[in-house]
Amino acid sequence: MIGNLNHVAIAVPDLKAACNGYKNMLGAKLSEPKDEPDHGVTVVFVELPNTKVELLHPLGVDSPINGFLEKNPSGGIHHMCFEVEDIIVARDHLVAEGARVLGGGEPKIGAHGKPVLFLHPKDFQGALIEIEQA
Ligand code: CO
Repeated sequence: MIGNLNHVAIAVPDLKAACNGYKNMLGAKLSEPKDEPDHGVTVVFVELPNTKVELLHPLGVDSPINGFLEKNPSGGIHHMCFEVEDIIVARDHLVAEGARVLGGGEPKIGAHGKPVLFLHPKDFQGALIEIEQA
């Protein structure tokens, strides 16, 4: 059911240091930082030939990644995102198979302007999974 890996998201406490690492040490192509007030994050996209890494830095006191950074002060892998063809079909399949869909199960418009859902990490070996309608 799942298709391409759309992105891996890394929560970063210091966006400048993170950009330095990916740009200068790893030699990747980076976007300009973009504030996403609806999602409480500032995002830098690391463009790779086959997927993206998204550097997520908290924006505002209610940022959804504040709690993660409290538990992981140096940052860490926050989630990975898989593409699906039809998010409602994917959701119904996941629910039927016993997976827990976060946030009441209704897709929200994600950072790329496409519908997304998040799945409970306890159902996926501790990894938070996002699915995005491609
Ligand atoms: Co994401």
